[in-house]
Formats: sequence, C-alpha cells, structure tokens
Amino acid sequence: MVGRKPDNESMPAALITGASTGIGREFAYLCAHAGYDVVLTARSEPRLEELASDVRQRTSRRAFIIPMDLADARSPRQLYEQASNLNVALEVLINNAGFGLVGKFWELDEDEQMQMLQLNMGALTHLTRLFLPGFIARRRGYILNVASTAAFQPGPLMSVYYATKAYVVSFSEAIHNEVRGYGVKVTCLCPGPTATEFDKRSGASGTKLFKSGNTMTPLAVAQIGWDALQAGQSLVVAGGLNGLMAFLTRFAPRQFAASMARRMQEKA
Ligand SMILES: NC(=O)c1ccc[n+]([C@@H]2O[C@H](COP(=O)([O-])OP(=O)(O)OC[C@H]3O[C@@H](n4cnc5c(N)ncnc54)[C@H](OP(=O)(O)O)[C@@H]3O)[C@@H](O)[C@H]2O)c1
Repeated sequence: MVGRKPDNESMPAALITGASTGIGREFAYLCAHAGYDVVLTARSEPRLEELASDVRQRTSRRAFIIPMDLADARSPRQLYEQASNLNVALEVLINNAGFGLVGKFWELDEDEQMQMLQLNMGALTHLTRLFLPGFIARRRGYILNVASTAAFQPGPLMSVYYATKAYVVSFSEAIHNEVRGYGVKVTCLCPGPTATEFDKRSGASGTKLFKSGNTMTPLAVAQIGWDALQAGQSLVVAGGLNGLMAFLTRFAPRQFAASMARRMQEKA
C-alpha cells in the first residue's frame, strides 16, 4: 500500500511536479490525505504557496514548495538537491508536469517545442534517474509518470506532444520491468481529455477532442493513477471509453490512426 498512517512526524514524502494546478494539484491532496508530506513544484510560486497552505490546513501534513522551471535542463538536479536538503524522506515521485502545442510542426515556435521535449521527456527521465537509486537502495519507492492517450498513435497537428507521450509510455514500461524484485513500483498514467488548463495552454480548447463531451475531472484522473500505483500496475488509461479507444487503436493501420487523431485535433 502507498497510503500511510498520518500524524507521525517522520512520515515519508511525495514530490509532485506540475502541482500548481490541474491533475498535479489533485495528486497533492491525494498524497497528503494518504499520510504523505508533500513537496510541490511548478513555476508559479503564488499558486504553490496557496496550495501548500490549503494542504497543511486540510490534512495536517507538511507541505513544501520548490518553484522551478523544469524546461531548463539544469533544473532536475537542482530540484533533487533542494528536495534532498528538506527534512523529509522522499518515497513517491510523481512526474506530472507537461504541456502540448497545437499547430503545424513547422509553424509552431521552435523554442517552445524544444522546451516541451525537455519538460515532457527530459525532466521526467532525469528525475527518475536521480531518485531511483535511493528507492532501490531502500527497497521502497513509487514513481508515477503521466503520459496521455496521445501516446498510442501519431498525432498530426500535435506531433511533438504525441511523440513525447509515446516516449513516456515506452520508458515507464521498461523501467517498471527493470525494477521488479527491488521493492519499487513504476506506473504510467494515460489520461484522455481532462478539464484542466492544459487545453487552453496548448491551444486545443476549440478542438473536436475537447468538445467531444468525453472530458474527465482532474480528481477522477489523479485517483485512477494513484490507485494503479498502489496496485503496482505498469500502465493505466483513465476512463473506460479512453481505455477502449486505446485498445482498438492497436489494431488500426498507423496512418489510419494518424488520420483519426488529426480529425480530433481540428477545430470543432
Ligand atoms: N488535461 C488533459 O487533457 C491531459 C490529457 C492527457 C495528458 N495530460 C497530461 O497531464 C499532465 C498534467 O497536465 P494538466 O492537464 O494538469 O495541465 P495543466 O492544468 O496545464 O497543468 C500543468 C502543470 O505543469 C506545470 N508546468 C508547465 N510548464 C512547466 C515548466 N516549464 N516547469 C515546471 N512546471 C511546469 C504547470 O505549472 P506552472 O505553469 O505554474 O509552471 C502546471 O502545474 C501533463 O503531463 C499533461 O501532458 C493532460
């Protein structure tokens, strides 16, 4: 079980990236309610402060904030060092921070695309690399990597984002296998469209995907990921319909799946 008995000062802690809003914010509450102290990171300091104060009030757990831009390649090590200097025993790592961009590959901003690669793949991989040796040594630890149903097919008009999430699934499933027998659990969560700031930030608000009426709440998505982590699952797709679509996509020709994905990325 991931959950622990609260009211014990020496309780272990969970580090959550992208905690300032959306799915990450819900992970913060889930971890704290399960008895973990939380270390919250994202760029927005005021939002992290407000969340940390609310977590402390509602759950009596300790909540720390480390504001940081994880699209900078130097940040994961700085985050690891700052988190290691807190008086907490980190036992859970939730790699949740990520963003997308909608548009033609050659027209989207080049710097933003490179930042997306660094955040969605680089920071997630680097943080996993930094925390895993400690988890292995202690024979206890939990890593939850947030991918997307975008991982299961090519994504025209969101090509880089879909490809980053395919990487997250492949990487997470491989590490899940590698850590078997070491007391460590690694799970990959694949949400479908979820009601957060993601669609507005990525320019996907008006797309058929987000107008389809199949949008889940961030709490429901986070709970599914958290439960799968406890159960030791390698991968979980959030929501029955999303799971069915991900399953069926396996049998479709890749360019047919790409055409379907493109249709969903077009404006409704
Ligand atoms: N919402 C969906 O439909 C959906 C579907 C599938 C997968 N996902 C995945 O779910 C995860 C969470 O997304 P969400 O839906 O909760 O989106 P969101 O509401 O936009 O939240 C994204 C979080 O990531 C943080 N973040 C963004 N850029 C960052 C950077 N450069 N450095 C550090 N933190 C950064 C944001 O905080 P700051 O802006 O304060 O830095 C925020 O806390 C992402 O990996 C996303 O790809 C979302």
